Amino acid sequence: MNRISIFKNHILSGDFGKLAHFVKTRIGSYLFDWPQGINIEPTETCNLHCPFCQYRINAKERFKYISFENYKKIIDDVAPFISYMGLFYRGEPLLHEDIFSMIKYASDKNLRTEISTNAVLLTKQKSRQLIDSGLDVITVSFDGATKKTYEAMRAGAKFEQVIANIKHLSKLKNKLNSRKPYVILQMIITKETEKEIDRFKQIGKEVNADEIFLRPLTPNFAFTGKKPKIVLEKFLPKRRANKLELDIQNPQKKTKSKCYSLKTAMLFRDGTVVMCCFDGAGKYMMGNAIAADFMKIWYSDKYRKFRAKQMKNMELDICAGCKANF
Ligand SMILES: C[S@@+](CC[C@H](N)C(=O)[O-])C[C@H]1O[C@@H](n2cnc3c(N)ncnc32)[C@H](O)[C@@H]1O
Ligand code: SF4
Repeated sequence: MNRISIFKNHILSGDFGKLAHFVKTRIGSYLFDWPQGINIEPTETCNLHCPFCQYRINAKERFKYISFENYKKIIDDVAPFISYMGLFYRGEPLLHEDIFSMIKYASDKNLRTEISTNAVLLTKQKSRQLIDSGLDVITVSFDGATKKTYEAMRAGAKFEQVIANIKHLSKLKNKLNSRKPYVILQMIITKETEKEIDRFKQIGKEVNADEIFLRPLTPNFAFTGKKPKIVLEKFLPKRRANKLELDIQNPQKKTKSKCYSLKTAMLFRDGTVVMCCFDGAGKYMMGNAIAADFMKIWYSDKYRKFRAKQMKNMELDICAGCKANF
């Protein structure tokens, strides 16, 4: 979602508190290097087994959830400084029983809230609860425009059921005259899904999505061993796979665009802070936001050094598959 859409949606939804907070925190970000946002994963557990998912492939500790108390503590620490709060990272956010109170807590502090979900658990009741929570954006990860492709990519999900879930959310928004949550229908581009882009756009219209987003598939090079290679060979369109193979040989090559993670942090459900969504294995841990104040971690020498390094050149091994590098 771009900055214009954020502004537009806040204004049209009458969220002037969020708009004012957004402007204030962007000034703070510019003047004092405040973070612009954080993501906290409600859980690392998932109800699906998507074969390309780096987080799923590598999940060692399952069935773990952040407590509402710990979540609140982190939000209380960071809310004055950030404008964006993503309630997802590894795992499926709708599995957390407190997810609606968690969204509402952040939303009431004028943070723009977002979840990314597989939408399998998006029942009629949950759709209503999401609207009532004040959620700003929902990304539905929907990889494939035919039943066959979708169910192979999103192992464990049913094509028709998830379509019906998204349609219901859109209808309910309409009925309640609510512009929120802004619905993004997202498809990862693979060997199979790249043939289905036109049909995917059609599905976007049928379910009344506000936006469709085509996401590049990224094998995560921070996880050594054979798994990233499987993702390359099995799923990536050939040209991009070849390019990425070259990149593995040369992870320190020059950055082509700006690093996405300079102004946002990613948090595991146990409070561990990492600087990038590509670091799902926790290779570069900056601290723990349950044990300490997040802003102290943000301004620590270690974190500052990493930001400076990333600003100059994305040279960590985890940067190799990042789309900012292409
Ligand atoms: C790990 S999921 C967690 C949230 C939720 N379970 C979902 O599927 O949306 C967050 C996002 O990462 C994406 N993702 C997972 N593995 C990926 C990969 N190898 N390349 C690109 N995106 C990936 C998913 O499609 C999803 O949009
Ligand atoms: S639903 Fe999300 S977290 Fe779960 S396996 Fe699929 S991409 Fe990974």
